Amino acid sequence: GKGNYRHFMEKELHEHPAVLGDTLRQYLDPGTLEVRLPRLPFDPAKVPRLTLTACGSAFLAAHVGRYWIEKLARIPCDADVASELRYRDPPLPEGGAAILVSQSGETADTMAALKLLKEGGQKVLSIVNVPESTMARSSDAALLTVAGPEVGVASTKAFTAQLAVLACLAVGFGRARKQISQVDEGRLTQALLSVPSFAAEILDRDAEIRALAAEVAKARDVLFLGRGSLFPIALEGALKLKEISYIHAEGYAAGEMKHGPIALIDSAVPVIALCPSGPLFEKTCSNLQEAAARGGRVMAFTDAQGAPALRRFAEHVIELPTVGAFSAPILHAIPVQLLAYHVAVLKGTDVDQPRNLAKSVTVE
Ligand code: M6R
Repeated sequence: GKGNYRHFMEKELHEHPAVLGDTLRQYLDPGTLEVRLPRLPFDPAKVPRLTLTACGSAFLAAHVGRYWIEKLARIPCDADVASELRYRDPPLPEGGAAILVSQSGETADTMAALKLLKEGGQKVLSIVNVPESTMARSSDAALLTVAGPEVGVASTKAFTAQLAVLACLAVGFGRARKQISQVDEGRLTQALLSVPSFAAEILDRDAEIRALAAEVAKARDVLFLGRGSLFPIALEGALKLKEISYIHAEGYAAGEMKHGPIALIDSAVPVIALCPSGPLFEKTCSNLQEAAARGGRVMAFTDAQGAPALRRFAEHVIELPTVGAFSAPILHAIPVQLLAYHVAVLKGTDVDQPRNLAKSVTVE
């Protein structure tokens, strides 16, 4: 049941800290600060290329996975939605492997991609939430997210759990390829082990996010911006908002705004930015300033170090804990999902069962 929560989605949002802890404990050792992966169907030290594919939010997790794996392990990655990968007839390398991501393990397009990848000689590793699903059974190996049943059509805790598994894989692959040292591994696993408590801290900002939602609920169009591994999270924010509140939203790479979407900006369009401090901050901040200069209403998620610069021109600045670049995508997913939830509640939509959507899409 929903317990004391109004919706399954609200309950599932509040399960983020527990689910992240449970999932991370499967794949890393808090004692030795090492990643602990089960036997994989391919050797990460030798694999020439990885194909990551999935649908919807699961694809956005795969998209973040690509940023992490390329950065930490230097394995060339291809990430595409399953419904496109299938028809693209991609050249698949000999000895290559694929990572599929799915909450249900029953999504028809992802299953069709699995078949194509296997026929193309790729070893298939899937990240799934339902152990007995078709995808888990048809893959060469399955890594489970320990998210428990997800009832709300909008994926929440399953999404961050997918990110947690992908983060562990990226670190494990980085070690296998000698791209990162044992000290780096310790630092990265430590960052991941702090994720559950940061997630709880972010959920405590509920009232602040609800206030932001009251502004966003009045909009007809919303733009989400992020750079680097936060770009897929901007897409996740836009997807969640569309899906449950029916407000039109777009996610964009922050640097792409000036190549088109900036034409949309006026004082009616909230521009929601994922902009933590770090090497990408300056560039993103100046993109946002351009939006503000055109009357755009900038609403930014940042941290203590980023807040002062953003407060100079942003309408709302939400200060999240300082988490570091590696775990930032996991922790920024939570406030954007929470924002979509509150907007939907204010709009009075059917949060758990949005129109035209099914929890598991079993048609191609
Ligand atoms: O069960 P799956 O993870 O394979 O589902 C994939 C998508 O249908 C799913 O993530 C969908 O985009 C969600 N409703 C998004 O919140």
